[in-house]
Amino acid sequence: MELVRPSLYHLPEYVAALKRGWSPDNIKGTAASIEELAQIDKDPQAFIDQLTDREAKGPPIVLPDGSSAPRLPGYYLWLWDGEFCGSIGFRWQPGTSSLPSHVLGHIGYAVVPWKTGLGYARSALRLMLLRAREEGLAYVEITMEPENVASRKIVEANGGVLFERFQYPLQYGRKDGLRFRIDL
Ligand SMILES: CC(C)(COP(=O)(O)OP(=O)(O)OC[C@H]1O[C@@H](n2cnc3c(N)ncnc32)[C@H](O)[C@@H]1OP(=O)(O)O)[C@@H](O)C(=O)NCCC(=O)NCCS
Repeated sequence: MELVRPSLYHLPEYVAALKRGWSPDNIKGTAASIEELAQIDKDPQAFIDQLTDREAKGPPIVLPDGSSAPRLPGYYLWLWDGEFCGSIGFRWQPGTSSLPSHVLGHIGYAVVPWKTGLGYARSALRLMLLRAREEGLAYVEITMEPENVASRKIVEANGGVLFERFQYPLQYGRKDGLRFRIDL
């Protein structure tokens, strides 16, 4: 399994995964899948291009409660083993390791259900951490719901340590979360 930069070559399998109900967005779920299918239908190249946005040129981020917030620099890579396996995203604030309170972690990932249990998420995080170091951050944070045992294992296998229990910000609906830190 490798991390690839999204391209038109990989896009048909990404679309197929969305159509099977998979979502790259762990918070918005299938609403995000439907939204992305519409964007791809309208302009596939524009969809691919906005997945790499190191200068935060894209529009503001719409949070789950419908409010919006400034976009951070970031990009997505796709997990690929000859077939599409999932997505991993990384965003950061230039010049600091900290994040605004409404941003739930530097890195998020999702593996398609038919490729889980193969160690892909663990490998994807390991590979993404190598890239995160290049941005000069001292650490990255990853958040998850307490019952997400798999995600916790993935983070701990990559050197993550529980930093704090926290409440998701109001825009996400108040619920308990775990915030892990991985020193770079
Ligand atoms: C969580 C998720 C990323 C796991 O992907 P994956 O590629 O199957 O993970 P890995 O194969 O690398 O497994 C890592 C560990 O989690 C364990 N694991 C995987 N799925 C699990 C599950 N449903 N319940 C308990 N443990 C699980 C694996 O056994 C492995 O443990 P080990 O290190 O002891 O062997 C995937 O199920 C997913 O996309 N879920 C929805 C999105 C999500 O929760 N993302 C993370 C939010 S921060």
